[in-house]
Amino acid sequence: MALISQRGNRPKTRPLTSPEDSVDDLALNQATQKGNVLRGVQQVHEPTACIEQLRRGLAGGHRRTSLKRLKTDVIDLFYQHRVDPNVPIEDVAGAVKDLIQQGKVKHFGLSEAGVQTIRRAHAVQPVAALQSEYSLWSREPEAEVLPTLEELGIGFVPFSPLGRGFLTGKITEDTKFDSTDFRTVVPRFTPENRKANQALVDLPGRIAEQKKATPAQIALAWLLAQKPWIVPIPGTTKLSRLDENNGSLAIKFTSDDLREIDSAASKITVQGDRYPERVLRMSGR
Ligand SMILES: NC(=O)c1ccc[n+]([C@@H]2O[C@H](COP(=O)([O-])OP(=O)(O)OC[C@H]3O[C@@H](n4cnc5c(N)ncnc54)[C@H](OP(=O)(O)O)[C@@H]3O)[C@@H](O)[C@H]2O)c1
Repeated sequence: MALISQRGNRPKTRPLTSPEDSVDDLALNQATQKGNVLRGVQQVHEPTACIEQLRRGLAGGHRRTSLKRLKTDVIDLFYQHRVDPNVPIEDVAGAVKDLIQQGKVKHFGLSEAGVQTIRRAHAVQPVAALQSEYSLWSREPEAEVLPTLEELGIGFVPFSPLGRGFLTGKITEDTKFDSTDFRTVVPRFTPENRKANQALVDLPGRIAEQKKATPAQIALAWLLAQKPWIVPIPGTTKLSRLDENNGSLAIKFTSDDLREIDSAASKITVQGDRYPERVLRMSGR
């Protein structure tokens, strides 16, 4: 299986080799070594979502996206990673439709797109999956996005399902991040907000004790319990954590458990945005 992520409009201040990307690549490599379900999956993060680049790229003319470089004949799921305000989504969907007809791509995905964009894209080329942030502390997709996906039959891939590590309980207000770590610019991760958001760590921690599991497993199992078509993608650089996270598949919640988690979570107000303002502006379009 091969998968490609075309991430449009990457903020210029974020280097291509940011921690987000390296966590991802390492986790995928390790997953491959482990023969995990992610075996053979490749993601390429692109700085722009230019249609011509997309067409030429898969034909072999673009360094980062050529099928030859990816060592595959076909990309199973091709994501546009942010909606480009300068290119009508119908043009993007049309370009991917062409690639599907040429047999270079099997399925079309979007990331952090708003419901109107999803509907417009889906009318041109059915969207197979939406990849957007969703976790116990980022529940925005529940209002409009999840009902729309259910109506249209589109799968949902929550990214940062562990709250970029925070929901695992391994990050405290005293944790020091490397200066290149993306979390240093995420408002939710200032030391003050980490302290204020501690209740979000206590919640999965408490349920984990009841279920004899780890907080990370609870955070993932909660996502898996929301809908059968939700598939979270946790990132890790450690094989032991890959095994631990896979253990979430064995955890089952009763409807009482889910009600209890919902009720506890609804009493917590998360402090700080999930992205810096300039990045947040690129979401939900
Ligand atoms: N579509 C998009 O725009 C977008 C944006 C962001 C991320 N993503 C994708 O989403 C995936 C994951 O997101 P993410 O890495 O940002 O966030 P995440 O999965 O919520 O959290 C990853 C962090 O949690 C830590 N971690 C993982 N498992 C753990 C465990 N069992 N116990 C304690 N700590 C644990 C990892 O550290 P260690 O490495 O030290 O284990 C890492 O710092 C990646 O594939 C990424 O590419 C997509």
